[in-house]
Amino acid sequence: MQSIQNEAMDTQADTLYLQIADSMAGLIRTGTLTRGERIPSVRMLAQQHGVSQSTVVQAYRTLEDARLIEARPRSGYFVAARPVRLPEPDTSRPPVGSVAVGVSAMAAQMLAMAHDPAYTSFGAACPAADLFPEERVRRALSRATQRHRHTLCQYPTGHGDESLRRAIARHALRMGCSFDAEQITVTNSCLESITLCLRAVTQPGDVVALESPTYYGFLHILENLGLRALEIPTHPRTGLSLDALQFALDTQPIKAVLCVPTLSNPIGSSMPPAERKRLAQMLGARGVPLIEDVLYNDLCEEDDKRRAVKAYDTQGVVMVCGSFSKTIAPGLRLGWVEAGRWTEHLRQIKAATSGSQAAVLERAMADLLTQPGIEAGYRQLRNTVAARVDEARGLIAQHFPKGTRVTDPAGGFILWVELPSQIDSLALFHAGMAERICFAPGTMFSATDRFRHCLRLGMGGKWGTAERQALRRLGQLATAMA
Ligand SMILES: Cc1ncc(COP(=O)(O)O)c(C=O)c1O
Repeated sequence: MQSIQNEAMDTQADTLYLQIADSMAGLIRTGTLTRGERIPSVRMLAQQHGVSQSTVVQAYRTLEDARLIEARPRSGYFVAARPVRLPEPDTSRPPVGSVAVGVSAMAAQMLAMAHDPAYTSFGAACPAADLFPEERVRRALSRATQRHRHTLCQYPTGHGDESLRRAIARHALRMGCSFDAEQITVTNSCLESITLCLRAVTQPGDVVALESPTYYGFLHILENLGLRALEIPTHPRTGLSLDALQFALDTQPIKAVLCVPTLSNPIGSSMPPAERKRLAQMLGARGVPLIEDVLYNDLCEEDDKRRAVKAYDTQGVVMVCGSFSKTIAPGLRLGWVEAGRWTEHLRQIKAATSGSQAAVLERAMADLLTQPGIEAGYRQLRNTVAARVDEARGLIAQHFPKGTRVTDPAGGFILWVELPSQIDSLALFHAGMAERICFAPGTMFSATDRFRHCLRLGMGGKWGTAERQALRRLGQLATAMA
C-alpha cells in the first residue's frame, strides 16, 4: 500500500500502525473487504495483532484520511461506501440535429498507445489480463480441443454451438430475459452483434439515436455504415434523457436507438428500472427498434440495474447484444445477439459476412459459462475494480484542478472526468503522450466534437505505483493548463 505510506509519512520508516493500515488497505483494494462492509472493531484488531488500541486507532485514522474507511457513530468502522464525494458532470447537452460521423483516426491513434506496454495506460476499457480467469480459460480450451478435435478441420455451420446458446439463454435469465436458445445467434463480438443489428434495421443515411457521450466504437460503426448519429442528452447517473428522446422521436426520422442502459461507456450511467420500462414502452408504441448493449450488466453492483430493458419489452422491439469481453475472455472473441423478429434477416447478413465462429472456442465458452464459480468470479471482479475506481477518484480529488467533476458509476472500471472548461483534453492528451501516459480524450465520444474538456479513464488495467504516479502527474499537467 505504497500510496498511503508515501502520502502519510513520506520520510519516516514503516511503523506498526502503518503496517496494520497497509494490510487492511490491501484487503479493501483486492476486494476481500467490500464497500459498506463492517471491519473489525479497534479492540478486536488490537487483540489480533497484539498491539495497543491506540495503534489501531492510528491505523484506522490513516485509512480514513485515505478515504478507504469511514466511522459511523455508535456502529463502528466500515469500508467507505463511496469514498470520495466529488461533483458529478451534468446531463450532456448535444445539438438537436443528426450528423454524419468521422472519429476513426483519433480512436486508432489512442488505441495503438493504449495497448503499447511502453505507456502507462488508462486508455483501454478492459480489465487487465490478470483480472480474467486465465487458468480456467486455458483448461476449458484444452478440454474443448481434446473432446471436439474433429471440429478443428471442418467448417463450422449454423448459428452457434447449441450448448453455448443454451448457456447464454440461462445467463440471460439473470437479466430478466427468457430467451429461446434457438433464437440466439453467436457472433464474434458484441460489436459484430451491434453491426448486424444496425444493418438489419437501417440503410445508409438513416438516423440512429444514441447516448451523449457514447462509446467511440459505436461511432466507428455508424461511420462505416454511413449512418447519421443523433446524440441524446444523457445523465451520468440515470442515463438517456427519455424526455429528450421522446422529443427527438417526435421531430426526427429515427430508425433505431442504440443504448447501453447498464454502465454505459464512457459515462457509467445505469438507468433506473422505471426508466427502462418507459423506454421499452416508448419505442414499442412507435415500433422503433432498440439495440440494447448488455456487455457490462454483470459488472453492475446494483441488482435491479442488471435487469435488461428487454425484460420490459412487450412489443418485441428490443434486440439484445452481449459478449464475454469484459468478464471472461476478450481473446476468445465471442459474442451473441437475440434479435427477435429480425433474427432471420440478421442471420442472412451474418452468413454473407463472417459465417460462423470456431466450434472449439464456442464449446470452451459454454464450459466456462456453466462452471459453478462463474457468479463468484463476477463478484470478485466487481469488487477488485470498485476498489481501484474508488482509489482513482481519491487521487483525482487530490491532484486534479479545482472544479474537476468525475462520475461515480455503480460498477465497472470506467471514469469520465470533466475538467474546468478552459482545459483542452487534446492538449492534455499530447502532454500525457510526451510522458508516456495514455487516456482517451473526450472528443472521441461524440460525433459533434463535444467534450473537449473531458477525458475517459479506464481503471481496469494494470494498477500499481506507476499508475498511481501517472494519475497524479496527469492531474499536475491539467492543473498547469487551468
Ligand atoms: C459499450 C461497449 N460495447 C461493446 C464493446 C466491445 O465489445 P466486444 O469486444 O465484445 O466487441 C465495448 C468495448 O469497450 C463497449 O464499451
